[in-house]
Amino acid sequence: MKKFLIPSFLLLSVLISAYRFPQKSVAMESVAPDSDTLMSMLALYGQYVFVRENCVNCHYTESGHVPFSYMPQVSLEGVGGRYTDDWHYNHLLDPQSVSPYSNMPAYPDLFKAKPDTDLLVKLMEEAGKRGMKYPKESEKTAVAEFQAQQKAAMERLQTLKIKDKGSEITALIAFLQQIPPSPLQIKMDSIAKAKEDAEWVALSQTLEKDIMRNVLSKNKDTLMMGQTIYTSYCSICHGAEAEGGIGPNLTDEYWLNGGKVADIMRTIQYGVAEKGMISWKTMLTPIEIAQITAYIVSTNGSNPPNAKEPQGEK
Ligand code: HEC
Ligand code: HEC
Repeated sequence: MKKFLIPSFLLLSVLISAYRFPQKSVAMESVAPDSDTLMSMLALYGQYVFVRENCVNCHYTESGHVPFSYMPQVSLEGVGGRYTDDWHYNHLLDPQSVSPYSNMPAYPDLFKAKPDTDLLVKLMEEAGKRGMKYPKESEKTAVAEFQAQQKAAMERLQTLKIKDKGSEITALIAFLQQIPPSPLQIKMDSIAKAKEDAEWVALSQTLEKDIMRNVLSKNKDTLMMGQTIYTSYCSICHGAEAEGGIGPNLTDEYWLNGGKVADIMRTIQYGVAEKGMISWKTMLTPIEIAQITAYIVSTNGSNPPNAKEPQGEK
């Protein structure tokens, strides 16, 4: 029985993969999104291109999708936002230009093809069958919406020094950029983050004592090292003497995110993204962060000239 299973499975998958979506087909069950949020007209058209070009021979975009092909399957789950638009542009034009060992085919024709906006109404109907119900009025506004979205996409590409004349590629990129992560991936990410956070807490607690010891003993090596790194990465926003600028004064007793040694390390490690303080965890090692923290703590009460007004709490 086992002997039989493998060959018949192979035969079946070869048969199935021999089936191609006909050109201009609008059937695309296999890439139906999980969510009920509506795609932009540009992305909706991009999804059509994705299916028409048989990208689905090698890719799937949602978990639970059963590969219909003997080709190697590369998951595109969560690919939205992973790369910039110009990365996708270059990847589709010449995959090896951005992914050196890629054996993905190039799609030069899509860079010349003009989108057929007459299809939009049909595409919305198809989407409706998969649970993405577009309001009836969308039919009237579809083409205008598509054009506005494509114009914005072209302008974004232009800021990345890429000139596109309104080809199908902008739509395909819009589709790729909105593919969400799978629920499994979201769960895995949150587990990874919890693990990272726990490790960080353990590490910062260990380093905290060392930092204070170095600050109190005025350990020159640590403080100078910290100051050197501070000067290269941080002084641009926090001032040459940590007096503040774009970012807060780090020498006073007032803190927006807590002034304990562990708080300062945490802010440097994870940042306050929405306020313009980036996370340094991929750029600095924990030891370097400890050294900068020691330097910052050592500047406390140094009263530098041009100090920024206090921010936060004592
Ligand atoms: C013959 C199989 C094949 C086909 C057909 C194919 N790809 Fe790929 N694709 C690959 C392989 C292999 C990779 C991994 C190597 C690379 O990054 O190029 C890949 C990678 C990608 C990635 C990057 C994934 C990541 O997370 O790094 C994107 C996006 C992508 N393909 C989009 C497309 C689109 C859009 C189409 C259709 C226009 C397409 N592919 C058609 C094989 C294929
Ligand atoms: C692009 C500007 C910028 C750079 C570069 C920058 N910061 Fe910041 N930083 C900020 C801003 C803005 C805040 C305020 C965040 C807030 O409002 O909570 C901040 C907050 C902080 C805080 C918390 C201050 C408080 O009051 O809670 C610390 C500590 C800090 N930065 C350290 C650093 C260190 C160390 C570096 C270099 C490795 C650095 N920053 C690089 C902009 C920057």
